[in-house]
Amino acid sequence: MAPSSVFDQIVDYKNRANPYPLYAELRRTPVSRCDDGAYVVSTYTEIVSMLHDPRVSSDFRNRADWAEGDENSVPGLPPSFIALDPPEHDRIRKLLTRHFGPPHDPGRIMSMVPDMAEIVGSLIDNLAGHHEADLVEEVAYPFPVAVICRLLGVPREDQPRFRVWADAIVAAIDPTTGDLATRKRRRQEAAAELGRYLGDLADADRDRPGDDMLSELAADEQAQGRLSRDELMSNAVLLLIAGHETTVNLISNGMLTLLRHPEELQRFRRQPDLSPRLVEELLRYEPPVQFLPNRTALDDIDIAGTTIPRGASITLVLAAGSRDPDHVADADRFVPDRPDNEHLGFGGGIHYCFGAPLARTEAEAALPELVRRLEDLRLVADPPPYRPNPVLRGPRHLPVVFDRVAPGPVVRGRDERQLHHV
Ligand code: HEM
Repeated sequence: MAPSSVFDQIVDYKNRANPYPLYAELRRTPVSRCDDGAYVVSTYTEIVSMLHDPRVSSDFRNRADWAEGDENSVPGLPPSFIALDPPEHDRIRKLLTRHFGPPHDPGRIMSMVPDMAEIVGSLIDNLAGHHEADLVEEVAYPFPVAVICRLLGVPREDQPRFRVWADAIVAAIDPTTGDLATRKRRRQEAAAELGRYLGDLADADRDRPGDDMLSELAADEQAQGRLSRDELMSNAVLLLIAGHETTVNLISNGMLTLLRHPEELQRFRRQPDLSPRLVEELLRYEPPVQFLPNRTALDDIDIAGTTIPRGASITLVLAAGSRDPDHVADADRFVPDRPDNEHLGFGGGIHYCFGAPLARTEAEAALPELVRRLEDLRLVADPPPYRPNPVLRGPRHLPVVFDRVAPGPVVRGRDERQLHHV
């Protein structure tokens, strides 16, 4: 089988439930060229090398096939920092980091742990008296959405509007949902509306600042220069979308994996302190972000016996790299207490996931509570129905049955000292 057709099969919805044998096939050629001239990198060492190579750009305007109105751009707004290279990327990331975690804002995420426990607790409370649920709809989706909205200061009553916008924006990076022109248009409309909403919210915050991140960003005057209003809008859209579409899959892939390994589920129930290692293993074994389709070669790049020509588009298959047997022992086995777990779940290099400490803390708040409170939990469908998206991969629904909902909640979370190490 030609390597390009392996990647076509990975994108094909019928392989969404289990792409891992195809990733193994892909790794036989660490750097492969597709029929359309794009390159696919699938082995751990080569992916890490690409993630750290300054000749590999994340700015879609460098793509040979880029045209004004590309699906990643919002008319009238600058690209968000995930789609920028240094020095612009670094300037914006620094300004945002100041309001997100150590050393400037060490309490930001830790101070949300009680909120997280309360949100998870009340979502699970809603299941009391029932014996079946869709864990995606009832917990895994609404939880991170409520957390990112609270972090940014989005009023609770506006939250349902975000789902419509987020769905339209994410559908655009999903090659399986309709023609490119329609996807681009829908994404642009949704992102522009969301950007306008957040811009107005930031303006209101300037007059009446709260203690949320958007208020602080709106008021920020720092040595590196504050974010312009347009930059604030485009990057707040990024944070909201990232906060909607990733942690949901970590929690739902996590519950699915535990339910497929009942002995590990029971062990986790007895030993909730396994959480930090278990979450790392889930990020390796069933990663919410399967690949990064957005890189471009700025120069000819020699790697693993292949030359990727300048201007070529590059896809980094993180999920294949994290299961590379040359990097990790017993790579296809779920080992919840795996030591020294080096995975690519959050990417690497200068674009390493900005939200990683938040995502980890969220998963550590949700998973032990779900396992503790939903007694005698069983899967209804295996595999469950998946979302169409091959990049942000996870179940669309996760139907389960259970005997009883135990009382809660118990407040859990990592302590301040641990957070400094994430
Ligand atoms: C389990 C949940 C998550 C996973 C698996 C995940 C994964 C990733 C990955 C793989 C990247 C690298 C992208 C690249 O190199 O092009 C990334 C970047 C990023 N993530 Fe996450 N993410 C998660 C949660 C979040 C959350 C909750 C937020 C929001 C607070 C967030 C915000 C970002 C941002 C802003 C970037 C761009 C960073 C940069 O370009 O410097 N992520 N994420």
